[in-house]
Amino acid sequence: MSINIAVSKGRVLKEVMKLFSNSGYIFDDLNTRKLILKSQDALINVIIVKASDVPLYVDNSFAELGIVGNDVIGEYSNDFYELLNLNIGICDLCIAAKKDFSLNNQNFLKIATKYPMQAKKYLKKSNRKGSIIKLNGSVELGPLLGISDCILDIVETGNTLKENNLFVKEKFKSINSIIIANKIYYKTKFKEIDEFINTISNQMMEEC
Ligand code: PRP
Repeated sequence: MSINIAVSKGRVLKEVMKLFSNSGYIFDDLNTRKLILKSQDALINVIIVKASDVPLYVDNSFAELGIVGNDVIGEYSNDFYELLNLNIGICDLCIAAKKDFSLNNQNFLKIATKYPMQAKKYLKKSNRKGSIIKLNGSVELGPLLGISDCILDIVETGNTLKENNLFVKEKFKSINSIIIANKIYYKTKFKEIDEFINTISNQMMEEC
């Protein structure tokens, strides 16, 4: 029996496919627009989805497993198991703003972000009040157009901030990709899932 793994497209997918191939799961057709990739040994199917949809696929039993960053997971209150942290998609979730903006003495913050749940947690943790403006992308426009004081967003290379004259003011949390599992499938397909997780974690240990 094969297992379906929902993987977020974009930067994470490339690294995931490399880890899979190093672990012995070989795929023929990597350079296609196909959304379902089947391993040659028919053990796993990679389902390519938008990052924010990965928890939805797993939670609704469309996929046994999912691979997605804890930035996305942090927006869900859904119930799934977090099985394995991967050293993939490593970046930081940060508060960033224009150069002259200081977080000191700011009791009220206007935050533009793709991550409203985590922005709420940030406000609570930093003991501030504020308003959260949910955008679906290009959040850097927030401070540039005066929509917000700052943004809460992921910073990987820092290039996007730099090119838009924004600066990290505070790191909120570290982000990496995690293998999540549907709770029912984790019981009914335990053998297949356990074997897959062991294969991947052994490969990760070898690469260390
Ligand atoms: C993310 C994030 C930043 C950028 C950070 O956006 O929202 O804009 O990447 O990466 P960097 O530090 O390497 O420049 P993404 O590329 O996912 O696009 P989006 O704005 O459409 O969500």
